[in-house]
Amino acid sequence: NKAITVGLLGLGTVGSGVIEILRDHKERIEHKTGCDVTIKSVLVSDMSKPREVPAETQLTDQYQDITRDPEIDVIVEVMGGIDHTLTILLEAIEHGKHIVTANKDLVAQHGEQLFEACQKHNCDLYYEASVAGGIPIIRSIMDGLSSDRITKMMGIVNGTTNYIMTKMAQDGVDFDSVLKEAQDLGFAEADPTADVDGLDAARKMTILSILGFSMPYSLEDVDIKGIRGISSDDITYAEELGYRIKLIGIAENNHNGVSVSVEPTLLPIQHPLSSVNDEFNAVYVYGDAVGETMFYGPGAGKLPTATAVVADLIAVLKNIRLGTTGTAYVQPQFPKQVKAKKD
Ligand code: NDP
Ligand code: HSE
Repeated sequence: NKAITVGLLGLGTVGSGVIEILRDHKERIEHKTGCDVTIKSVLVSDMSKPREVPAETQLTDQYQDITRDPEIDVIVEVMGGIDHTLTILLEAIEHGKHIVTANKDLVAQHGEQLFEACQKHNCDLYYEASVAGGIPIIRSIMDGLSSDRITKMMGIVNGTTNYIMTKMAQDGVDFDSVLKEAQDLGFAEADPTADVDGLDAARKMTILSILGFSMPYSLEDVDIKGIRGISSDDITYAEELGYRIKLIGIAENNHNGVSVSVEPTLLPIQHPLSSVNDEFNAVYVYGDAVGETMFYGPGAGKLPTATAVVADLIAVLKNIRLGTTGTAYVQPQFPKQVKAKKD
């Protein structure tokens, strides 16, 4: 087997899941890829926290220990953050490291820059976990539906808000205590206002729009409304009238151009998205030829998210084995097309 050395940035909810999956699925991964993976170093911010890492893994709070380590082949970024993290990843790419990231904030805002840097340095860039956690929606759009023209994507892409609204509806619990629960379960962002105010869902819809419609789209153009104004009473009244409130992202590409929005929406209780509960996500993708498809699964949390991250790592390992680095089938495209105008 080929020895591959990984540097892990972040050892929180997702990072610890990555270590767990690499440990528990070691033989399967070796068999699938022909590679032996070692996590050599892990970047954290607080060196004094107690951690569980493999014996061969060292902790550091200096990112250059990882980005400049010539032995490290692949960086798995699960620490979050935007500007500082971009600096770290660009430095890593300059040093020839392949990148796997779960960071939708970064991909939504700087995906093109990362992609161009990766192309220049012949590195891979994968980010399946950045949208809808454990649902392989990016692969499905980039690969499974690649022969079709995608016209619309719609669904629930934030686990925290879906969890909050499910619990408010089912148990009548108040917003603040159920948000705390979602944080304790590891679903929420470091700053949960990104979830609650719809920004996290908007970032995901931006990524889906860029990939699905194969054209640049800016996060700033998304119409965003979060769930902060929704009370338990709103939820109860909606239910009495036969509706459920869900935070729905919609991206459409029609003759007017691309429009993307995220907002709380009343759905008939019989609508399939009304039965998507807790931290689960579901995305409808409509194509000219395929018609309607629906993808459903856990949208947040340690192991579902880490599953997507490690699947990306496996894709990188396969590329390394095949010598096809930088031309992966799931390599995202940020084509330079004329930007469509909104209404
Ligand atoms: P956590 O807050 O649980 O973990 C973040 C980790 O990164 C911690 O180990 C923290 O160190 C480390 N870290 C953060 N900032 C720095 C820094 N500046 N320097 C060094 N280390 C740093 O986050 P999650 O695991 O929940 O999320 C990680 C990423 O994955 C985010 O981009 C998130 O959006 C994304 N994601 C998360 C999902 C989820 O369900 N949680 C789902 C899909 C994507 P320390 O331990 O010392 O505090
Ligand atoms: N905070 C995010 C959510 C994590 O709740 O959906 C998954 O991207």
